[in-house]
Amino acid sequence: MQVWGGHQLQGHVRISGAKNAALVIMAGALLCSGDCRIRNVPLLADVERMSQVLSALGIILKRHGDTGEILDINASEILTSKAPYELVTQLRASFFAIGPILARLGIAQMPLPGGCAIGARPVDLHVRGLQAMGAEVQIEHGICNAYVPGRNGRLQGAKIYLDSPSVGATETLMMAATLADGETIIENAAREPEVVDLANFCNAMGAEIHGAGTSTITIVGVSQLHSIDYTIIPDRIETGTFLVAGAITRSEFTLSPVAPDHLFPVIAKMREMGITIIEEGADCLRILRAEKLKATDIETLPYPGFPTDMQAPFMALLALAEGDSLINESVFENRLRHASELNRLGADIRVKGNTAFVRGVPILSGAPVIGTDLRASAALVLAGLAAEGQTTIQGLHHLDRGYDRFDLKLQQLGAKIFRVAAPSPDVELLTNNSNSPVSVSH
Ligand code: UD1
Repeated sequence: MQVWGGHQLQGHVRISGAKNAALVIMAGALLCSGDCRIRNVPLLADVERMSQVLSALGIILKRHGDTGEILDINASEILTSKAPYELVTQLRASFFAIGPILARLGIAQMPLPGGCAIGARPVDLHVRGLQAMGAEVQIEHGICNAYVPGRNGRLQGAKIYLDSPSVGATETLMMAATLADGETIIENAAREPEVVDLANFCNAMGAEIHGAGTSTITIVGVSQLHSIDYTIIPDRIETGTFLVAGAITRSEFTLSPVAPDHLFPVIAKMREMGITIIEEGADCLRILRAEKLKATDIETLPYPGFPTDMQAPFMALLALAEGDSLINESVFENRLRHASELNRLGADIRVKGNTAFVRGVPILSGAPVIGTDLRASAALVLAGLAAEGQTTIQGLHHLDRGYDRFDLKLQQLGAKIFRVAAPSPDVELLTNNSNSPVSVSH
């Protein structure tokens, strides 16, 4: 991807459905033996990969709509309890399907997702929770083999305490408990909006989940779920990334549909930096041209704290703020690798352990850089939008995993950004059948 920096953005950007909600809701569709229609599904390589995992289990999926944003899933028959190694290892979220598969079939074989660029990312909390619900779980040869002993193969409701409020573990266990026998209580549950979206999706199918969005979630098991037509929430991380794009290029534009409440810590921090963000109606934000960016400190935390997925984009922004900022990454152990790439663009960032010390500089200058993970790649694009001259970003497959036609949306806002390599094959396939994702009103 090539970016020519220094151009202001204007107009309107349309925000896509939330990646992390879409992925887990696709897994949640396995709980239902009828038809599920999911709307506002983003066009992403990760969604495509999740579709491949589900299809390998014998699930029928069909994608349609003007931009391919409607996904029909029919899981009336799950033909195998064994998910394919090559696909699950590429997409951590597909491991979360162990919950619904186990709940439906009483048996599941899931390859361990493994670590990734940002940390080791174990699944011990998922496993311990399933064990508390009566599952026998053994990990052998890299496969997590789980089955429910007893004649009816049904998980039992249980009281589960999570050592940390893991998003994925909360989702896996919530889905598993939906069809379990009796009541499950998850203490120290994750409170992320995507957890709430999954709970709303399951409840709309007839599940009984109470308290999603708080630290205690209670699930009363039901025997089956019914068909559903459900619309996914807007992506708060994509929204935040575009807000940073606006601030870093000193631009004014609008973004919708958005859920401003889900972005509270991000908006609060941007306001602290001197950036004006206005709510226009319930689902639209306007960012105004920032005169001056002030330094600030951030610490990533589980929701409602500052999201770890916004840490890299924010680092790009703080690199250009006036003064010194401190960034503490407390969710993942290895998520500051973009600092050295930002330094290649002229930033002044020192990393010690999980803390980055950012000394603001007045300008960045274009250079070749490599994105090491999804949000790191986005951060480099953002820095490139502000840098003088040309920035070439490698590692596009990361971007395509989690941003719905990011380059196209930026281009339509007026950015000089060009894709020199082909998009991920999955995304290319889908894009060929899609209309423009954004409308621009100058
Ligand atoms: C989800 C999001 C990801 C986001 C993250 C934190 C999806 C598909 N991905 O990932 O974008 O960055 O939440 O907001 O929704 N942990 C354990 N044991 C476990 C599970 C997690 O030690 O069994 C640790 C992880 O290594 C990590 C921390 O808990 O350090 C948070 O991870 P978690 O909330 O589970 O993240 P994910 O659900 O994988």
